[in-house]
Amino acid sequence: MRSESKMKIIAKTSYGLEEVLVEELKQLGVTEVELATRAVMFEGTKETLYKANLWLRSANRLIVPIKTFKIKDAEDLYNKVKEIAWEDIFTVDQTFAIDSTVFSEIFNHTKFAAFKTKDAIADRFREKFDKRPDVDTDQPHIRINLHIGKEDDVTISLDSSGDPLFKRGYRESRSLAPIKEDLAAGMILLSGWDKKSNFIDFFCGSGTILIEAAMIANNIPPNINRAIFGFMNWKTFDEELFNEVIDHALDQETRFDFKIIGIDIDARVMGMCRTNIEAAGLTDKIELHKKDFKEFDAPELKGVIVCNPPYGERIGENVDDLYAEFGDNLKTRYDGWNAWMISSNMGALKKVGLRPSRKIKVFNGSLECRFMKYEMYKGTKKVHKMIRSED
Ligand SMILES: C[S@@+](CC[C@H](N)C(=O)[O-])C[C@H]1O[C@@H](n2cnc3c(N)ncnc32)[C@H](O)[C@@H]1O
Repeated sequence: MRSESKMKIIAKTSYGLEEVLVEELKQLGVTEVELATRAVMFEGTKETLYKANLWLRSANRLIVPIKTFKIKDAEDLYNKVKEIAWEDIFTVDQTFAIDSTVFSEIFNHTKFAAFKTKDAIADRFREKFDKRPDVDTDQPHIRINLHIGKEDDVTISLDSSGDPLFKRGYRESRSLAPIKEDLAAGMILLSGWDKKSNFIDFFCGSGTILIEAAMIANNIPPNINRAIFGFMNWKTFDEELFNEVIDHALDQETRFDFKIIGIDIDARVMGMCRTNIEAAGLTDKIELHKKDFKEFDAPELKGVIVCNPPYGERIGENVDDLYAEFGDNLKTRYDGWNAWMISSNMGALKKVGLRPSRKIKVFNGSLECRFMKYEMYKGTKKVHKMIRSED
């Protein structure tokens, strides 16, 4: 019989996406969650873990805590890590790596804590098998997460994802400033797009937002193209169960009867976008236009715009006019649409000249950004809506 025993699971995400992650978990049937900054905690079975890795769009990692304890000093950490039955988790022939976050004053160097942990694991194997597993920091079979809090409380977790979940497996080529897949998906989910209307990205670059939108629209799991997840290297991996999860996911694809449209002014970037869309198997689901966004005629059926314009980060680049044109274009052509735009350039955002109805703080990599919502309807310029600021 298949084990239904539950484990604690921590889904890590980016700042500002926690609430959409909770919604995504609800869709997977997980109702009891604990919300933290950049993480959501919940309990689930092995099946939940496999499904979560396959389906969660706004998470970047899923880790499973296996032991928590307090320590007095570095030796104490070594001894307690050595007590864990690592040989039940992986074999001596597999490689491992430690990712560490350390706030405790016991260690004035994060690396030292990771070093002690690595030694404890290697020594346990050596004492049992006369052989130790190798460390591989690039592509380890097993990623172990070490967290030591300010109160010297330690949590050892296994990383069930391995490579971060934004590595969907479809990206063949990158534009100059691609947005990460989990943020792109998180933005679309934050927009509240109901999948019953058209979708446009004015500045589509390598196509990340479009690809994520097409997968959301057709109910395709974001990580269906990934070859490997961390949990596949665990001794407890249940291949039959995982195949069932995949088969079930493949049956969930739904029809989408509206358009997903990408626009970009740069022909080279458009080429990359096409390549990525093809790699994701979504060629027939996305329409592309190589042109200036101002020259694109809005489709008759209204919908949602989600975009990631240039932020004016490059020396000598000024995007004030571009942002002003974005606002003007919305006013003249996109009556009835909801437009969302992310940017770190707070000055340029003011040039849009429209009153946002929402402002959400998010991070694009290390850049603090605002994700702005502009609701376009006749008389937008006259109506003053309350700004819901979620800084
Ligand atoms: C920050 S990048 C978008 C990156 C994209 N989200 C991705 O993941 O690859 C901004 C894009 O805007 C495009 N762009 C700049 N001005 C434009 C304009 N007037 N009309 C359409 N696209 C424009 C650039 O060619 C660039 O690809």
